[in-house]
Amino acid sequence: MMDWTDRHCRYLHRLLTRHSLLYTEMITAPALVRGNARHLLRYDPLEHPVALQLGGSDPAELAIAARMGADEGYDEINLNVGCPSDRVQSGTFGAVLMKSPDVVARCAEAMIEAVDVSVTVKCRIGVDEQIPEVILPDFLRQLTSAGITRVAIHARMAWLDGLSPKQNRDIPPLNYDLVHGMKAKFPDLIISVNGGITSLAEARSFLAGGLDGVMIGRAAYHSPWDVLAPVDRDIFGEEPQFGSPHDVVLAMLPYIDRHLSEGGRLNSITRHMLGLFAGRPGARHWRRVLSENSTRDGATSKIVIEALGRVPRQIAA
Ligand SMILES: Cc1cc2nc3c(=O)[nH]c(=O)nc-3n(C[C@H](O)[C@H](O)[C@H](O)COP(=O)(O)O)c2cc1C
Repeated sequence: MMDWTDRHCRYLHRLLTRHSLLYTEMITAPALVRGNARHLLRYDPLEHPVALQLGGSDPAELAIAARMGADEGYDEINLNVGCPSDRVQSGTFGAVLMKSPDVVARCAEAMIEAVDVSVTVKCRIGVDEQIPEVILPDFLRQLTSAGITRVAIHARMAWLDGLSPKQNRDIPPLNYDLVHGMKAKFPDLIISVNGGITSLAEARSFLAGGLDGVMIGRAAYHSPWDVLAPVDRDIFGEEPQFGSPHDVVLAMLPYIDRHLSEGGRLNSITRHMLGLFAGRPGARHWRRVLSENSTRDGATSKIVIEALGRVPRQIAA
């Protein structure tokens, strides 16, 4: 998620769950190939398995960007066909490509040809005046013919004409039945569902209903402990690494100190940690101490320790 799931956010999330697949923010192929965005590919080895999400519509350029990602060690390269922002529309990236399945298929083919790791697509169920029941099967058919074996489907349309990107994440109604229908139609295609899923209980019911995966965005960001910490045990049958959000904060301290010693700012990391105690006693103090102090020049991890002191340990566990 742009501006959210940067490498610091992913490091935190990886401490919470060893097995979930994490995704980068969307990085556009032109920015990587022609611009100065190579630094955005940086990540910590601990983040694996991690997928690089690319935006673009030029097969040759996407192939080069995919190769750059694979060379950097990303485990998967994902093509964004879901982002509704204006900037992205003007560059013919993202959701508007739902109208050009042939272009998406050519992009996918070029990317698959360029790398050895898995190439996947994240899409919507349709855009604007499209009828999802009609266009989505055709879209997926073209993708599978191009060699795509795994997709994540955000189960709502994007209405590009009239709604803001933010509204496009909430207003078009969710249609999970259609995603289940696609799994029935394309049993060999690995399908994850995305959109409006806020708990692991919900995620499990999609898996029980036959879907292969669940992608969680905002809920994982805002309530990372509640949503991500139980994943290893509940989905993958393995004990989680940490027993409480307290322990996760302590485990972040060396990472924070390393970042500060390289000249980084405290807030670049702590802004992703604000939700760690969401819904727990002390959460408000935690957020306040961090947000009021982390942006100051010279702020150190002492701020984090001070904020942690405001959260009752026995209740937080
Ligand atoms: C701040 C923000 C940035 C986002 N950036 C991206 C992005 O870069 N790529 C992408 O595929 N989806 C992006 N999304 C959409 C989410 O991945 C997801 O599809 C959407 O929020 C619905 O899922 P959710 O209800 O689980 O959040 C973004 C969402 C938010 C809130």
